[in-house]
Amino acid sequence: MIVLGIETSCDDTGIGIYDFKKHKVLSHIVSSQHEIHKKFLGVVPEYAARAHLEVIDVLFDYALKEVNLKPKDIDLICVTNRPGLIGSLFVGLMFSKGLSLALERPLKAVDHLEAHIFSPFIGFKKEDIPFPFLSIVVSGGHTHFYLVEDIGKYTLVAKTLDDALGEAFDKVGSHILNLGFPGGPYIDKIFQSYKGEYVSFTYPKVKKNPFNLSFSGFKTQAIKYYNQGIDKIKLAASLQKCTVDYLVSKIEKILKHYKINALAISGGVSANSYFRKKILSLKNVKVYLPNLKYTADNGVMVAYIGGFLFEKYGEDPIDVNAYSYSPLQQFN
Ligand SMILES: Nc1ncnc2c1ncn2[C@@H]1O[C@H](COP(=O)(O)OP(=O)(O)OP(=O)(O)O)[C@@H](O)[C@H]1O
Ligand SMILES: [Mg+2]
Repeated sequence: MIVLGIETSCDDTGIGIYDFKKHKVLSHIVSSQHEIHKKFLGVVPEYAARAHLEVIDVLFDYALKEVNLKPKDIDLICVTNRPGLIGSLFVGLMFSKGLSLALERPLKAVDHLEAHIFSPFIGFKKEDIPFPFLSIVVSGGHTHFYLVEDIGKYTLVAKTLDDALGEAFDKVGSHILNLGFPGGPYIDKIFQSYKGEYVSFTYPKVKKNPFNLSFSGFKTQAIKYYNQGIDKIKLAASLQKCTVDYLVSKIEKILKHYKINALAISGGVSANSYFRKKILSLKNVKVYLPNLKYTADNGVMVAYIGGFLFEKYGEDPIDVNAYSYSPLQQFN
């Protein structure tokens, strides 16, 4: 089964082609819109939707040509339909519906979070996915922890109560420290060559669920340090050190509480060098990290989980809608 995956939930247009029988990635193409949004230091939804529309058909043609396939060779069309920027989602969804009708192939709508959750296992057969596992999606919009028991069986066990970690990196890195957009990779680069001392950040207190997190206080403390004249290189490196230490301390508590020995990390921030290093040094847990090229948004992860969802639940109707929210974002 040749599966097409289309991703347009935010500011990356992703096309993936995945051979579901051989569990092999055939094509992986992403067009990033960073150049368009960088002058605004954030994603402008209307520009994002228009930019997806301009490139999506070109990328689709290119992906097929790259692997010598014809449109009719595609057996299943998978597309992200939630959560995300509604205009952006509609571009991918409408393009996919058009293909589904024209090629007479089934359509499967995919949750973007579900696609991230399974991205560390791209290339794995179902029997090699280590259920149950703890999944952490750490991205620009989410820092969410799931207990994953099977395809389609997820329990949200903890989440950030305010900013996502990627969002905190972006706001501090781009808006306060003026390092570039998005801030996360710039902060990471600084951290990697930084050899000095760190300033400390106070960990926030969260009420009720002790596994939940909060990152907005780190931002406020970063502003305070910046106004006090702390060197911005030192500040950027310290922010990465303290937020990652904080996140990993939560991960350790959750693993212990749920007695889970498999951990899967995903989302853009899973590319972070210090986070990867710390996670890989955890004891008594098998860690699964996505290949760096599948950490940020891409179509391959949509094709991968879409294939399993199609096998388990069948196709979606052609009038399937797009949603800015996902049930996976909130506790039941
Ligand atoms: N090396 C890195 N270190 C820290 N953060 C990083 C790194 N590389 C990317 N990021 C961050 O990852 C985020 C983008 O990830 P991703 O594309 O998964 O998010 P998104 O799709 O915008 O949000 P979501 O998946 O929550 O809807 C940005 O916040 C970016 O700064
Ligand atoms: Mg994402």
